[in-house]
Amino acid sequence: MVLCWIRDEIPEKNSDPHMKYPGQYLTPEELYITTGVRLSQVPLEHLTNEDRLAELRKFKGYVYNDYVTIVRGKTEEEKIKMKAYMTEHIHHDPEVRLIVDGSGYFEVRDIDDNWVRMHVFPGDLIDLPTGIFHRFSLDNDEYVRMHRLFTDVPDWTAVNRTDIITHPSRDRYLDYMNQVKTGLIEAN
Ligand code: LAC
Ligand code: NI
Repeated sequence: MVLCWIRDEIPEKNSDPHMKYPGQYLTPEELYITTGVRLSQVPLEHLTNEDRLAELRKFKGYVYNDYVTIVRGKTEEEKIKMKAYMTEHIHHDPEVRLIVDGSGYFEVRDIDDNWVRMHVFPGDLIDLPTGIFHRFSLDNDEYVRMHRLFTDVPDWTAVNRTDIITHPSRDRYLDYMNQVKTGLIEAN
């Protein structure tokens, strides 16, 4: 089950949850209203990978999927990848991930630009809307395996926040959040 909270501004130290004082968890509804992120649960135990994919496809219409394993970087290449995940960025497409093993932290900016930290575990399906600023880091267990899902041809382009002046996905995100606010788009 995903645990979410507003993160403090102290730079990453793995052992800390970085919960902002006074510290409380956000409900999935609070997360949705402030970020547009949708959470769901997928029962992993009783499904083969193929069956699970068929189920997901039925519900969401995903057309491409693969798996990614992230561990603490040892090689130079892994370190570069890890750094890219931890750098605040956006994409043209939603970022949809089903956690199948291990755990980690996704962090997204809410509408007031606070970091919201989501601690994800196996069976959690997260759906980050197009254009939301986000990043990913490992927790103390230093291992996660995720099923990546795309509703279109995958586009891996990440645009870092520091490089952005304007970006079409940002406008799409702000439009989307207006619709979330007025209840035009329902949570799952
Ligand atoms: C990605 C995540 C980790 O872009 O944000 O794959
Ligand atoms: Ni990303």
